[in-house]
Amino acid sequence: MSGHPDIDALVDRARADVASARTTEDIRAVAATVSGKKSPLAEAGRRLGTLEPDERRELGRALHEARSTIEALIEERRSTITADELARQMEADRIDLTEFIAGAVPAPAGRGRLHLVTQTRDSLEDVFVGMGFEVAEGPEIETDWFNFGALNIPPAHPARGMWDTFYLDLGAPESTLLRTHTSPVQIHLMETAVRTGGLPIHAVMPGRCYRRDTPDARHLPVFHQIEGLVVDEGITFADLAGTIEVFTAAYFGPDIHSRLRPAYFPFTEPSAEFEVTCTICHGAGCRTCSQTGWIELGGCGMVDPAVFDAVGIDADRWSGFAFGFGIDRCAQMRHQIADLRALIENDIRFLRQF
Ligand code: FA5
Repeated sequence: MSGHPDIDALVDRARADVASARTTEDIRAVAATVSGKKSPLAEAGRRLGTLEPDERRELGRALHEARSTIEALIEERRSTITADELARQMEADRIDLTEFIAGAVPAPAGRGRLHLVTQTRDSLEDVFVGMGFEVAEGPEIETDWFNFGALNIPPAHPARGMWDTFYLDLGAPESTLLRTHTSPVQIHLMETAVRTGGLPIHAVMPGRCYRRDTPDARHLPVFHQIEGLVVDEGITFADLAGTIEVFTAAYFGPDIHSRLRPAYFPFTEPSAEFEVTCTICHGAGCRTCSQTGWIELGGCGMVDPAVFDAVGIDADRWSGFAFGFGIDRCAQMRHQIADLRALIENDIRFLRQF
């Protein structure tokens, strides 16, 4: 007790206020009220100057003691509150590991993985890179010229029917569309090579394609192809057939047989279709291969001189071959997937097998 009833009352009130503080915010506010610049304590201090010296000294000492007491009370309360808050936070952050064991909390999601199509694309690229090919890419949105015109498919050519697609601005002077195959990337590569003196070309070009195909066991409206193009001097059909044979053995292993059947593509001459024994029925015939025992993986052939003409390559000096395989179909045959639609249904039980 200071012997000054007013100052004692001030300390008592401060003690009650400090005791009522529950949070860090409360104690900060209380400290400002009871000992801050606008507190009764500070105001009393400011009034000291008006007093007689003796009285001033005595009251000054009493005020000093009161301030020390109040500040000690605040500090004590502040450290209690901080300790309480820390303990509450730790309790809230506590992880009860037994909950996981009991299955009360779902286990965290497992690590993701590459989709089977991406894995297949990667391993196809690996095979071709091992054979000396470079990897290139082209746009999924193409002009009519790249998807059709330069590939010797003029307007109204019947081949446009089987490669019908989604047009983005049909009727524009140069309509744009979603590419139906990766063959337009051949044109990009050849045009660039002509511009930059980049011949010869040995490249594969993987990517996504779009067609107005009704989904079934072997078809998707959005699927993937890997295109191949070789332009060099003295290239023959034997180089093409040898490349396909080496690829088949490297990618599918010795148990899968392949065959080339004569076919027609406007941008290759001669042309062939590349097929492998259906791995679902091992050649006996099933729903997946439409009872033929074979699955078509892609088309191929010698680059048509009309295509060389379109891009300005001298067909008397250069010759070449090209091919285009379905990446999804390669995955289907390698992993014996009866229905291609499983690749896009996002059933995690199916996808996590690969
Ligand atoms: C072509 O797309 C030609 N551009 C291939 C080519 C390239 C020939 C170079 C000559 C030279 P085709 O339409 O047959 O050809 O398709 C090739 C392969 O793509 C098919 O064998 C198949 O494996 C795959 N494919 C085609 N359409 C689909 C589809 N809707 N869903 C899944 N795969 C498909």
